[in-house]
Amino acid sequence: MSSPYRLAVVGTGGIAHLHAEELRRHCEGRIDLVAAVDPDTDRLDAFRERFGVANGYASIEELLAAETLDLVDLCTPPVAHAPGAIAALEAGVGVVCEKPAALSLAEFDRIAAAAAASTADFALISQHRFGSAAERVRNMMASGVLGKLAVGKCDTLWFRAPEYFAVEWRGRWETEGGGPTMGHGIHQIDTLLSLVGPWSEVVATAHRHRRDTNTEDVSHAIVTLESGASVVITNSLLSPREVSQIRLDFDNATVELDHLYGYGDDHWSIHPLESAAEEIKRAWDGEPRGQASGHGAQFTRIADALDGKTAPPVGIEDARRTLELLAAIYASAFTGARVRAGEIDPTSPFYQRMDGSGAPWPDRK
Ligand SMILES: NC(=O)c1ccc[n+]([C@@H]2O[C@H](COP(=O)([O-])OP(=O)(O)OC[C@H]3O[C@@H](n4cnc5c(N)ncnc54)[C@H](O)[C@@H]3O)[C@@H](O)[C@H]2O)c1
Repeated sequence: MSSPYRLAVVGTGGIAHLHAEELRRHCEGRIDLVAAVDPDTDRLDAFRERFGVANGYASIEELLAAETLDLVDLCTPPVAHAPGAIAALEAGVGVVCEKPAALSLAEFDRIAAAAAASTADFALISQHRFGSAAERVRNMMASGVLGKLAVGKCDTLWFRAPEYFAVEWRGRWETEGGGPTMGHGIHQIDTLLSLVGPWSEVVATAHRHRRDTNTEDVSHAIVTLESGASVVITNSLLSPREVSQIRLDFDNATVELDHLYGYGDDHWSIHPLESAAEEIKRAWDGEPRGQASGHGAQFTRIADALDGKTAPPVGIEDARRTLELLAAIYASAFTGARVRAGEIDPTSPFYQRMDGSGAPWPDRK
């Protein structure tokens, strides 16, 4: 495999256009968009015309039979992620997959098994890990300058009007895998875990307050981390003043991220204790800086990894840790139990489906 890498986009709806724009802006000459797949020929044709894509196919099977590829970029609804990822990995083609990686831990572990048996790798889109400010905070945490984390907050307070759910696959366990916990808060939660490390247990509630969905429209979780720190997470699709926030209170400073769908350096702030202010300010004003979070930032890392013959980020282990926390939030919310990491094994109904033993409200559709 050598650069430029040959990539095909699978699913040419809303997010696929952003992927193609970001690939053009950040990876021109490194990753070539050579083919696209969609059973909806109008969408496929519009996408191919807009981005000058040479070849189009109605299914991933046709694509894999006809093309020599380095990567498929799965931009399909969540229900098609695992089948697409497994087909590509079995054909020895690398996978970049939109979130959520799979509808359940069971499905995810089938992807993991296919990746382990393949010559190619799986990478999940988790674009908010890759801004330079997040990297600087991780470096500052590792250096010890911030002290230890005590407490945190992680909020995804978004607004989705009832019409948003007119799209067939949204708001259903069988096709989206969950509500704002799984489909929206996943970005903030994944960024949080990339900063604070592994989680150990969770207590949670989930609610369907307003929307005509089968999934929740709000959830709350209290998460204890392996480090001993605790974090409160809220995911909502009912919040007119929308915001995505992470707040981390360390012994020596509070670090805050306040944005909506992506951040630059200026969306982060730091509030040190007087006693540690000088050293913290020096580290905060240092490198790296200037890289906004976003798909382009992650695609650049993916191209770098392929150049270095290493597995592209975010790999199986990191992707599973986030998905397991989401499964645990649902398991705790729907059973009332405190759920520990590792507890959702194949014998648990929450391993097979995110709603496990069933949401405490009746299906509406
Ligand atoms: N990372 C982000 O910030 C972000 C933002 C929005 C959406 N997403 C994710 O991207 C994915 C797609 O979302 P969207 O809003 O673009 O959806 P969409 O409904 O606009 O587009 C999905 C496309 O996939 C096609 N499709 C369906 N099944 C297919 C299959 N088996 N093979 C090929 N094509 C198929 C559909 O015809 C449609 O054109 C979802 O998983 C969503 O959660 C991520």
